Amino acid sequence: MEKVNITIDGIKVAVDKGTTVLQAARQIGIRIPTLCHLEGINKPASCRVCVVEVGPRLLASCALKAEEGMNIKTNTQRVREARRAVVQLILSNHKGDCTTCPRNGKCELQSIANELNIREVKYEGEISKSEIDMSSLSIVRDNEKCVLCGRCISVCSDVQTVNAIGWSNRGFDTKVEPAYGKLLGETVCTNCGQCILVCPVGALHEKENIKDVWKAISDDDKYVVVQTAPAVRVGLGEEFDIPVGNRVTGKMVAALRKLGFDNVFDTDFAADLTIMEEGTELLKRLEKGENLPLMTSCCPGWVKFVEHNYPDMLDNLSTCKSPHEMEGAMIKSYFAQKMNIDPAKIVVVSIMPCVAKKFEGEREELSYNGLKDVDIVLTTRELAQMIKEAGIDFANLEDEKFDNPLGESTGAAVIFGTTGGVAEAALRTIFEITSGKELEEIDYEVVRGIEGIKEAEIELPNGKKVSAVVAHGLGNARKVLDMVKSGEKNYEFIEVMACPGGCVNGGGQPFLLDKEETDVKIERARAIYEEDKALPIRKSHKNPYIKQIYDEFLGEPNSHKSHEYLHTHYVKREKF
Ligand code: FES
Repeated sequence: MEKVNITIDGIKVAVDKGTTVLQAARQIGIRIPTLCHLEGINKPASCRVCVVEVGPRLLASCALKAEEGMNIKTNTQRVREARRAVVQLILSNHKGDCTTCPRNGKCELQSIANELNIREVKYEGEISKSEIDMSSLSIVRDNEKCVLCGRCISVCSDVQTVNAIGWSNRGFDTKVEPAYGKLLGETVCTNCGQCILVCPVGALHEKENIKDVWKAISDDDKYVVVQTAPAVRVGLGEEFDIPVGNRVTGKMVAALRKLGFDNVFDTDFAADLTIMEEGTELLKRLEKGENLPLMTSCCPGWVKFVEHNYPDMLDNLSTCKSPHEMEGAMIKSYFAQKMNIDPAKIVVVSIMPCVAKKFEGEREELSYNGLKDVDIVLTTRELAQMIKEAGIDFANLEDEKFDNPLGESTGAAVIFGTTGGVAEAALRTIFEITSGKELEEIDYEVVRGIEGIKEAEIELPNGKKVSAVVAHGLGNARKVLDMVKSGEKNYEFIEVMACPGGCVNGGGQPFLLDKEETDVKIERARAIYEEDKALPIRKSHKNPYIKQIYDEFLGEPNSHKSHEYLHTHYVKREKF
């Protein structure tokens, strides 16, 4: 690679041709503040917070390519004043309710203003007015806080290819909103929440349900049961200054008991159940040659994406409910029966790394006998908020274990939290069930990692090969489906997670300022695979409590009873 020699703040450095000044500065440990920039995703150079001095000019370092002999200064009086002026202008048109904002303390604008020592806003004038859009069941939009960085548009359009929001109007009236004046809840939005993760301020956040949970816990007539998804345990600690990539499973369980939940269950149990149901469904479809490829249905963002964009492929989606909905259904039936509790008194709370699960929880078809499978969904961030509100010293909690019988799980279930996990878990079980042989090498490295599309193949004892593909991020999912529809590719099994990296990077996971997103995905996934390796049982069909639930209640996978409780259907939705 051709190199160019530049000087930044007196330090000489040779960087690859094409490197931006911002990247070059980061390479040698010089920090330049940014707001609109999002490496690899959003490069409009619109905010100008990242200006640097090059000769007589002030230029945006995120868009400035390093050129031979360039002499760059990042920390002069002129640079500092320019950055301050830019941030003051942004603040002059920003709703200033920082103390009550959901991003208080985690806001990039707040942090930059503090870093630049801004103690007053010099500019006064008209402020843009907008109604708060509460139409979505998952996401709230408050345009009065929007800084027009465009990150949400880039991630929604370029990464996810959903195009639910875009620019409208011009000049002072410029806004980010859905086309044709629609509200977010009326659009093709999949509720993945990636827009929330990239928003630097509080213009986008999840619909909060914390008060509903406190209310249920304080109601003596309710039996409140909580379940947690696998990715929550590798994200929650970050909210309590525990470094990224650490699992806090035991502390999380202890905190949930302290909050007052009557039982603490693990959604991983239902992930094992999903493998039993979905694996059997796949084998039946292979036998009959029907509705192939089978597409996973664990991710509600992906399911809604298919409903809007590929309604002709709804029969390809697995009919399995997602794991937390299965767990909810089993809590209100099997568990309620076992404990002699009136299911109508049970409130099931799901703690998810995801905001789309809030939408999913309200789907009419996800209920039984008029009772919703899951009553309330909280994100990892909302759980952290409850723990803080309750004054629990999270970091110093003694580890506790999940309750049983719906709290025992395997390594196969844990890896549902990252891209490739569902496929790997399914492959482990399908091989053993069909061959009757013990699978020696169970780590399917080929479906791991953050490559956007990954392919794998296993051979069944009858000689039939099952070809699987794993995609994460809806842009990659679209590529896979388009290849299948055009006949370019032929798969039997498709796993998709809507969020890039899978649930570890879900829209409900903690915000991290000053951390490259890719590092976070990799670190959280590493923690998930470590748990898988450490568990004594790593295949879903070997979970003794799974055997027990089939013996005592469901009969067998895909039985009439399991169809009643654990399977669902989908609806066609408008494309626009
Ligand atoms: Fe460079 Fe916004 S971060 S212009």
